[in-house]
Amino acid sequence: MSSNYLFPEGFLWGAATAAYQIEGSSMADGAGASIWDRFSHTPGRMVNGDTGDVACDHYNRWREDIELMKRLGLQAYRFSVSWSRVMPDGRGAVNQKGLDFYSRLVDGLLEAGIQPLCTLYHWDLPAALDDRGGWLNPDVADWFADYGEVMFRSLDGRVKSWATINEPWVVIDGGYLHGALAPGHRSAFEAVIAGHNILRAHGAAVRRYREVASHEIGIVLNIEPKYPASDRPEDLAARARAEAQMNRWFLDPLMGRGYPAELRDVYGEAWREFPKADFDLIAEPIDWMGLNWYTRAVPHDDPFAWPVRASPVRQTQHAHTETGWEVYPPAFTDTLVWLKEQTGGKLPLMVTENGSAWYDPPAAMNGRIHDPMRVDYLRTHLKALHDAIGKGVDVRGYMAWSLLDNLEWSLGYSKRFGITHVNFATQERTIKDSGLLYADVIRTHGGALDAA
Ligand code: FCB
Repeated sequence: MSSNYLFPEGFLWGAATAAYQIEGSSMADGAGASIWDRFSHTPGRMVNGDTGDVACDHYNRWREDIELMKRLGLQAYRFSVSWSRVMPDGRGAVNQKGLDFYSRLVDGLLEAGIQPLCTLYHWDLPAALDDRGGWLNPDVADWFADYGEVMFRSLDGRVKSWATINEPWVVIDGGYLHGALAPGHRSAFEAVIAGHNILRAHGAAVRRYREVASHEIGIVLNIEPKYPASDRPEDLAARARAEAQMNRWFLDPLMGRGYPAELRDVYGEAWREFPKADFDLIAEPIDWMGLNWYTRAVPHDDPFAWPVRASPVRQTQHAHTETGWEVYPPAFTDTLVWLKEQTGGKLPLMVTENGSAWYDPPAAMNGRIHDPMRVDYLRTHLKALHDAIGKGVDVRGYMAWSLLDNLEWSLGYSKRFGITHVNFATQERTIKDSGLLYADVIRTHGGALDAA
């Protein structure tokens, strides 16, 4: 079949989830609490008071969910491990039953011919470690490497592709700077320290991986490209600050360039200098990098926007998703090209998340869930991804966010990102039109995008 949108041989099509967002039963079988158990049970923190106590009940329904992945034709599945399921106190004793859950899941995926991609940390720090300061405690680098070692020894080989941390920027900006995510702190001083420790933890886990395991490990970053609102010098400077604080704070040190100079300006007296040896650890070579991509921003100078002094100008000419994110697919191509340059051109990239939240209508008479906006988002973003590959960016795969509607962190169940609808009263799963399109795209290696 000839098509304008065929993807390279071996391109990996999959979908992604995260432990706290789908598993439920977070305290089952000897697991310890995580900061998300605590946060979601704190009055006022979550939209509608939602919690992840049940979520998609994936902890009990994982077999059914693998069947769902088979129906979609997925070739890969990106999931994360709940650290406190495996190590209830975050360090020391291992909870074998927790480890067994992930072992069974991985075996089930392999039997189904689906490649498992495992993320060690998708935001659910063991509460017992938060009691010791969490990401503020420099010892967290060793705790994380020790936890990583438990997972590597148990699953490496069956899992051939690992990620250390999902979106360090969101962990720090949401958890320690603005407080909208667990553990809900709001301090520039803390953000600077926690940000450095999370990077050290990543480096320590990569080093440990090389000692005890032998496949591939990387990290997942969220990049939201910043386009200037005008050519006024103030707006150009605001754009540069926003890009440094969101996109380069973590990327630059990982690539051996240290922190961007703009961060001193952004954080002022909260900024500090760190020992040279830390930067060698942080820049430990990785095998691949994951990109989570949702939208762009057009920042302008705004003295009242703490601490970056930049705020986005809404682009009213384009559609916005239910989370208020502008739909602008060309920026996805631009980001991939930019990331190739920023990572030196040789590091394989993987789109580890991309998707959109929309209001989904009830099932139609024929039982289908029509989600035309998500269909359009998926189609236009896959085309934008194809354009980036055409421009020479080495992208190895695409993981749709998300396999299932799930707990969208502090927004609770109010935002649906799934290519599969979940009825949270009955746990019934229904593949949406976007999921049906995705299945066609996978089956035709992208060819179906021509007609779409
Ligand atoms: C990303 C998170 C993911 C999900 C999407 C919408 O930042 O990694 O868990 O919440 O946003």
